[in-house]
Amino acid sequence: MTADEIVTVSHHVEWARQQLEKSNAFFGHGCENARDEAIWATLHVANLMDREFEDVLDDKLSSHSSSSLRELIRTRIETRQPLAYLLEQAWFAGRPFFVDQRAIVPRAHIGDLIQDGLEPWIEPDSLRLTLDLCTGSGCIAVALAFEYPEAVIHASDIDSKALEVARINVDRYGLSNQVKIIQSDLFCNLSEFEYDLIVCNPPYVDESEFNVLPQEYLHEPRHALISEEHGIGIVKKILAQSRQYLTAQGVLVVELGNSVSTLEQAFPSIPFLWLTSRSGESAVLLITAEELQDYAPIFAG
Ligand SMILES: C[S@@+](CC[C@H](N)C(=O)[O-])C[C@H]1O[C@@H](n2cnc3c(N)ncnc32)[C@H](O)[C@@H]1O
Repeated sequence: MTADEIVTVSHHVEWARQQLEKSNAFFGHGCENARDEAIWATLHVANLMDREFEDVLDDKLSSHSSSSLRELIRTRIETRQPLAYLLEQAWFAGRPFFVDQRAIVPRAHIGDLIQDGLEPWIEPDSLRLTLDLCTGSGCIAVALAFEYPEAVIHASDIDSKALEVARINVDRYGLSNQVKIIQSDLFCNLSEFEYDLIVCNPPYVDESEFNVLPQEYLHEPRHALISEEHGIGIVKKILAQSRQYLTAQGVLVVELGNSVSTLEQAFPSIPFLWLTSRSGESAVLLITAEELQDYAPIFAG
């Protein structure tokens, strides 16, 4: 395609797709492939994010949008930063979120599960206090706030920089009365609370696995991804400590990603319940306060 032939939205998407594909860029921060990322980049620069791609295929891009797209794709390929960081925007549970390198790019499977409702395990009307542990950008806390408007949500993280990003998102959605941001190393500063629901997407990547991840991951905070004990160190602490911070009918929901089998091997006697997200992956465990109580001696190690 020569520059003169690149006129419409669909031409620009095709051009961007080809560039991304040739570059061997990695897709896993909000997009699964080069075409989806090319569509996202093109609609974003053209200010068409509120339209369906199929409805604007033949729209012409202004020369300003066209050169913005070229610059964006060039930077994406040269720096290997996830597109979300370059746009300072990520989509999660159907909504846009501000994001920069202070927090990881939102992509947790928990987002789909919250949107689809956590029934029958969660009775929405009975939720009063909910915790998004390891909140990062605050995306899960905000999704919870929209799904459960009557519940108060605590959004906690050890990292004050990530919490600055969470604050931006909470404020942008006008949720500061419903979502309280708390800096805490796991439950250290949460000792006075009892939650009906604790949701958590913790760091769960083994260090040796991290060292061979695509370059895109190196732009994210290391401590947001890596956990000791082959990736399950933090999850083990959460399983051992959560009971104390849950009501008797409370529920814990934790995302494990690639570390599902490591956790199952660590606790072979526990029949974990894995929830399946829209993409068909079963990487999120759900465990009740009652079960945490029953298995406490095992989780205590
Ligand atoms: C995988 S990121 C998840 C961020 C966000 N919830 C999401 O889904 O996009 C994990 C988060 O856990 C935080 N974290 C790491 N260790 C922690 C600890 N000991 N206590 C609380 N938060 C911690 C990191 O700062 C990071 O923001």
